[in-house]
Amino acid sequence: MLVSAKEMLEKAREGKYAVGQFNINNLEWTKSILLTAQELKSPVILGVSEGAGKYMTGFKTVAAMVEAMIDELKITVPVALHLDHGTYEGCYKCIKAGFSSIMFDGSHYPIEENVEKTKELVKIAHAMGLSLEAEVGSIGGEEDGVVGLGECADPAECKAIADLGIDFLAAGIGNIHGKYPANWPGLRFDVLEKIKEAVGDMPLVLHGGTGIPADMIKKAISLGVAKINVNTECQLSFAEATRAYIEAGKDQQGKGYDPRKLLAPGAEAIKATVKEKMELFGSVGKAE
Ligand code: 13P
Repeated sequence: MLVSAKEMLEKAREGKYAVGQFNINNLEWTKSILLTAQELKSPVILGVSEGAGKYMTGFKTVAAMVEAMIDELKITVPVALHLDHGTYEGCYKCIKAGFSSIMFDGSHYPIEENVEKTKELVKIAHAMGLSLEAEVGSIGGEEDGVVGLGECADPAECKAIADLGIDFLAAGIGNIHGKYPANWPGLRFDVLEKIKEAVGDMPLVLHGGTGIPADMIKKAISLGVAKINVNTECQLSFAEATRAYIEAGKDQQGKGYDPRKLLAPGAEAIKATVKEKMELFGSVGKAE
């Protein structure tokens, strides 16, 4: 059964670890992430961007697939199905489709409008038993058409949004979607500390988890980050393993072209990446 992400993230914040949000793109992705979470006894959040939702033919398909997979694979660890960087309309669609958590990304609106829309969605999400993530400031780079300049969040605006009763907050602190450029100056821990002071015990979300060095991840967790999003890194692992399989000519040996064989190395590579991240984030064994 899907659960809201509220309880698992409150536990993570108290226990000083983070739960990974791993974005899904298809059946293989979902299966690899769920099996790894179960094996490691870790809570997990499956993230779905609006683009990935569309690719998988719609949010209803995604919710049905995930629910059925949890059942068929006998997954017993807490799993949340979460809309990533949702639009106002996308949030409503996911609530209807059976998601257990949504992110409303109103960061591109003037703060008053972000507050207004977030307030409305919190009320509806909570009435339906879903958790809600809001965003202030922006995540740099691009993810599935969502582009951000990477401006750091204003702590006063973070407080205004946190006071609406949201469950967790994504605040820009110099993090970027996709690969980090060689000259990236790193996370702004000074900003994170101010945000933490402003919002108190609210679990914080670190987007752009791909490629952030381990010491920065650990410091961010010590300063209140309880959810870390990873997308690109699983894509890179999948692509590298698939390329190696094809370059070795394995798709042309026997029935190596069978999709169940062709996609297997990539699926295993996703598992390895998810395992590495869960170990780094400290969520292993927390669902026992
Ligand atoms: P990366 O693609 O950089 O891992 O970011 C994922 C993310 O933040 C999803 O919202």
